[in-house]
Amino acid sequence: MPTETVYGLAADALDAQAVLRIFAAKGRPRFDPLIVHVAEVEQAWTVAQPSDRARRLAARFWPGPLTLVLPRRAVIPDVVTSGLETVGVRIPDHPLALALIRASGRPLAAPSANLFGRISPTTAEHVREQFASAVARVLDGGPCRVGVESTVVRPDPSPLILRPGGVTREQLEASLAEPVAIAERDARADHLPREAPGLLASHYAPRMPLSLREDGAPWPSDPTVARLAFSQAPPGAGPSEVLSPTGDLGIAAARLFAALRRLDATTATRMVAELVPETGLGQAINDRLRRAAGLG
Ligand code: TXA
Ligand code: MG
Repeated sequence: MPTETVYGLAADALDAQAVLRIFAAKGRPRFDPLIVHVAEVEQAWTVAQPSDRARRLAARFWPGPLTLVLPRRAVIPDVVTSGLETVGVRIPDHPLALALIRASGRPLAAPSANLFGRISPTTAEHVREQFASAVARVLDGGPCRVGVESTVVRPDPSPLILRPGGVTREQLEASLAEPVAIAERDARADHLPREAPGLLASHYAPRMPLSLREDGAPWPSDPTVARLAFSQAPPGAGPSEVLSPTGDLGIAAARLFAALRRLDATTATRMVAELVPETGLGQAINDRLRRAAGLG
């Protein structure tokens, strides 16, 4: 199903057998928990127990790219949460996703619709490329508006971002009127049964090796090196992509995964990417680039 962030591989979150098929299709290890998607705030509280902070964040950001990690209720099978006592839940901001959830009458568990460890899909075509016949149906909702995954937040006992995403730290702090921490990779993993691949260093990876351009270093100019730039086209030879010529982080986020895929499809043998400014959506973009480069 399409969402505003990336496409998701959806199954009835209350049906353990259906959820197991998600793990099988993705080649995803069972210890990485899934996000449960609902259509209404009240439906969210049937799968998770809200706190004051959770209610406030839900009222402000749902539907939208924010996942709340909250104590789970017993209706959610263990396989969804990898046995954790918490569940991640969100309301996606996409009419087709909401229609699908409402038509099924069920909360839908959905990870990003990519093979384990690979680049997340932001068009229906990306999903078809990776899954061919392995999924029942691809709902084409057009290109994803946000383009990076939801921000995963554990609101209590004090607000902590487990994964930067489409809602920025600045927006969360403004809504809660208190500081919001961003977990380091090691700390993030502490919240999970074992290190979760979604939080592992090597993730969102293109096929070709990717390295980050040193600050201020010249771009390689060689047909064997693909180059991913933020706002200024790299000079010289070699395939390149510019995320946003106007330096707009929202546009850069929306274009990130498709640009990585296009570069990955060239005849270059390796890729160099530059980081973007570390503010707003730049934190989510840089998080994905660092992980694609195998760094935390
Ligand atoms: O935007 C998104 O969040 C997309 C769309 C489809 O909604 N979904 C997505 O799912 O990115 P996935 O499975 O690729 O990433 C889910 C992340 C993982 O890093 C997982 O470890 C974390 O959320 N997560 C899920 N439940 C959790 C929990 N109970 N505690 C801590 N982390 C959790
Ligand atoms: Mg994913």
